[in-house]
Amino acid sequence: MLGESQIAELNKVAMAMVAPGKGILAADESMSTVGKRFAGINLENTEDNRRAFREMLLTAPGEGQYISGVILFDETIRQKTSTGESFVSVLQKEGILPGIKVDQGLMDDPVSSGQKLTKGLDGLGDRLKEYVGLGAKFCKWRSVITIGEGTPTDANIRQNAKDLAQYALVCQQNGLVPMVEPEVLIDGDHTIDQSEAASEKILIALFEELKNAGVALEGTILKTSMVISGKGTGKLDAPEEVAKRTVELFKKVLPENLAGQAFLSGGQSELQATANLNAMHQLGGLPWPLTFSFARALQDGATKAWAGKKENLEAAQKVFLHRAKMNSLASLGKYSSDMEKGFSDTTASVSQN
Ligand code: 13P
Repeated sequence: MLGESQIAELNKVAMAMVAPGKGILAADESMSTVGKRFAGINLENTEDNRRAFREMLLTAPGEGQYISGVILFDETIRQKTSTGESFVSVLQKEGILPGIKVDQGLMDDPVSSGQKLTKGLDGLGDRLKEYVGLGAKFCKWRSVITIGEGTPTDANIRQNAKDLAQYALVCQQNGLVPMVEPEVLIDGDHTIDQSEAASEKILIALFEELKNAGVALEGTILKTSMVISGKGTGKLDAPEEVAKRTVELFKKVLPENLAGQAFLSGGQSELQATANLNAMHQLGGLPWPLTFSFARALQDGATKAWAGKKENLEAAQKVFLHRAKMNSLASLGKYSSDMEKGFSDTTASVSQN
């Protein structure tokens, strides 16, 4: 069992992660995922290009106004800027908490075919000790729930929930705040009702397993998907609908002592993700801090503006800071689409209907 002072320390970090008007940048894409992003801008996936890409995101001046924490990848937490300063130090100077992705990617679920489990529990404690030494304050572990014919199965949901709880416990024992991320994939042609049903099942199982494992929810951040129609339907749900469904589900299943929730964007366009978060805050009366922890919906426009070229650095950082500011405003319910003037949504990927 964790002691009171350990829980108080974890709570302090967790609350800073979801401080009002701030959210978390996910910059923890694995090498192969960065490769997919670079293919979009015709850039070779080399270590130095990945380093330069992260430098563009992490050195945007003043981003600490909007960003409370950054999730780094194992390679990135060890890298430095072109002037030789470690990324961790850059973040610390901006008052941003360094975080680290500690899962080791997905594997096929041997029991439930067509579904995934997440690797990385073996030797986790030792890896976390090293990350603490490198300056990490929080961690992320992503599980994936796939909606399809007969999926997700109860067995797959339960195993993912158990693994997330085991990871969260080891994090807290090492003084790190766990972000527990069951991502209900937006890929597929499922309805918003199916998204809601799958989200409800995984969240109920997750909080049961966190409780069974003795994880302190005051020192835990949930990172999950919005309740939303599958991308394959081509349907763009109204932000009010996404907000109402998501918040109602959360009120039903999230414990009150959870420190906070930060959404992934999951393949929504930048503007869609911001508008949906804003609509949740316009509903008001939220029992927990709800904010953003986007990768694509914070990075896509900036990545295109950068295109791997030094001379585009400033312009790309401007795009990134604009997006961070819009999401900061959305996390307070103060965003409006008029604020996007001069910044086009280059990332719309779900057709309007
Ligand atoms: P997206 O916002 O691109 O979904 O990424 C967030 C994330 O951290 C997924 O694990």
